[in-house]
Amino acid sequence: EAKAPGRKDGPRFTAIAPNTDDRVTVPAGYLSAVVVGWGDPVLPGAPAFDFENQTAAAQAKQFGYNCDYVTLFQLGQHRGLLWVNHEYTDENLMFRGYTDGTAATEEQIRIAMAAHGGSVVEVERVRASGQWRLVTKGSRRYNRRITVQTQMRFTGPAAGSDLLKTAADPKGTTPVGMLNNCAGGTTPWGTVLSGEENFNQYFVNGNGVPEAQKPYLTRYGVSATTGIPNGNRRFDRVEERFDLAKHPNEINRTGWIVEIDPFDPDSTPIKRTALGRLAHEGATTSLAADGRVVAYMGDDSRFEYVYKFVSRKRYIPGFDRNNRDLLDDGTLYVARFTGDSPATEIDGTGGLPADGQFDGSGEWIPLVTGDVSHVPGMTAAEVLVHTRVAADKVGATKMDRPEDVERNPVTGGVYVALTNNTNRTPAQVDEANPRPANKHGHILEIVERRNDAGATTFAWSLPLVCGDPNDPATYFAGFDKTKVSAISCPDNVAFDADGNLWISTDGSQLGANDGLFVMPVRGSERGHLKQFLSVPVGAETCGPLVSADQRSVFVAVQHPGETNGATPEAPSSHWPDGGTAQPRPSVVVAWHAKGGKIGS
Ligand code: FEO
Ligand code: CA
Ligand code: CA
Ligand code: CA
Repeated sequence: EAKAPGRKDGPRFTAIAPNTDDRVTVPAGYLSAVVVGWGDPVLPGAPAFDFENQTAAAQAKQFGYNCDYVTLFQLGQHRGLLWVNHEYTDENLMFRGYTDGTAATEEQIRIAMAAHGGSVVEVERVRASGQWRLVTKGSRRYNRRITVQTQMRFTGPAAGSDLLKTAADPKGTTPVGMLNNCAGGTTPWGTVLSGEENFNQYFVNGNGVPEAQKPYLTRYGVSATTGIPNGNRRFDRVEERFDLAKHPNEINRTGWIVEIDPFDPDSTPIKRTALGRLAHEGATTSLAADGRVVAYMGDDSRFEYVYKFVSRKRYIPGFDRNNRDLLDDGTLYVARFTGDSPATEIDGTGGLPADGQFDGSGEWIPLVTGDVSHVPGMTAAEVLVHTRVAADKVGATKMDRPEDVERNPVTGGVYVALTNNTNRTPAQVDEANPRPANKHGHILEIVERRNDAGATTFAWSLPLVCGDPNDPATYFAGFDKTKVSAISCPDNVAFDADGNLWISTDGSQLGANDGLFVMPVRGSERGHLKQFLSVPVGAETCGPLVSADQRSVFVAVQHPGETNGATPEAPSSHWPDGGTAQPRPSVVVAWHAKGGKIGS
């Protein structure tokens, strides 16, 4: 039932009102339910969750903490595999009396390590509805936990390089575990790509590395002058590899895109070095016009860059032997955005320039192709391990925290969530990042040349400059601002089968809970942003995922109750169990009560 572009065909539900309720709110006519939450049994022998009696052995078999990226691989109409990232842990909400990693028990540290990573869980549809629930009986042979201690391997041009060698792995090919996996994507061959994001926060004794390494530590957000950073989880007390003074290269083994095959629970997750090392929000794939695989990626820190990888060889449907290594050989690019309005018109008020658009042209600057570096003075392995340093040298554009980047499967446009950047000064604004002290963020749209994901040049514009629509420094693609929802801090983006853009938020600065929004990107409804869902107190909205049949929308409710000063003795959220229960990060599904399409 796809409709022609230009028709008034946006979602028709009535937007929910912003709120501060400790619940998941959905529009009239919709229902929601928890699918799976922290501590739920995943592997055989997993005990029922018991907040007061946690163990690392139990956690390693249970659903992890702080669910983030969510995707569903359907096994027919009524069964599926749900993949979920577990980004990080809130020890001060998980454990009574917790102060910091130095005072923590070693068992608490091991629990936190086991609560990171990811989960594969079998799920089933409830009757004929859009509701899905955890399968709790039968073999569940695909169910899997991946943690900080899962054996992995490196592939691609930097695998085996000196920069990745450690005492425990003298060949530099067998890293252990993944850290801070935030967003992600899928591949055409049915695997997950998961991004290691803020890996810098897990290491100690950066002041003890060789002098020559210190600038690289600093460039990746690790102090080279501090021994034990405040709030450090002290994984080094359990595993020595987190001590940089003893194992300076260990940090180079995290910050990668990790590929996981959910259909093979015995498979070794792969860190794909050709996709570079940065604070990877995630990676989402599309195909170039000639069939090469393209992965779009954001580096989520202030003043960081947008990247893409294009494979050398083409994807061939069904030819696994060809496809499985496509992400090991190709070109890694970084984006430069050039505005088309005079710099004097980007004046720091957030007002539009005279041509009525924040827009311009851009190019993808190659950093490395296969094992050939394009950056003077750096080898291919150095470009891939110290990707930020390479991008600095080629004049890429410093952005307002690039989070999810994803291509619209209907229009071919590529959308970048730029979540916020309160550190940008008036002297630092440019047309692609036009607001100083940008606290609400914006969405950037890229149209690749000839609408080909393999192109090296593009046009771009900002269809959405976020905030309260009453604020003149906001823009909703020219749509009537009296009819749109307020939005702040876009983080994850997704598309439904009609090509509508779904946006989830993290850290809204508008005084209400975070939520999920939808906005058509073409036709007369372009810019008509509406809020579909809100999450409980202290939570951010992750995922999101609109199922292929458009009957279900999944969101990960991450860190409910994460508010200043909250503890297990004084929780700020009791979601989802209610009463006096402790908050539990959980994946939620919402569906239309009468079986309608999501958004209808
Ligand atoms: Fe983990 Fe970029 O959000
Ligand atoms: Ca312009
Ligand atoms: Ca975020
Ligand atoms: Ca995120």
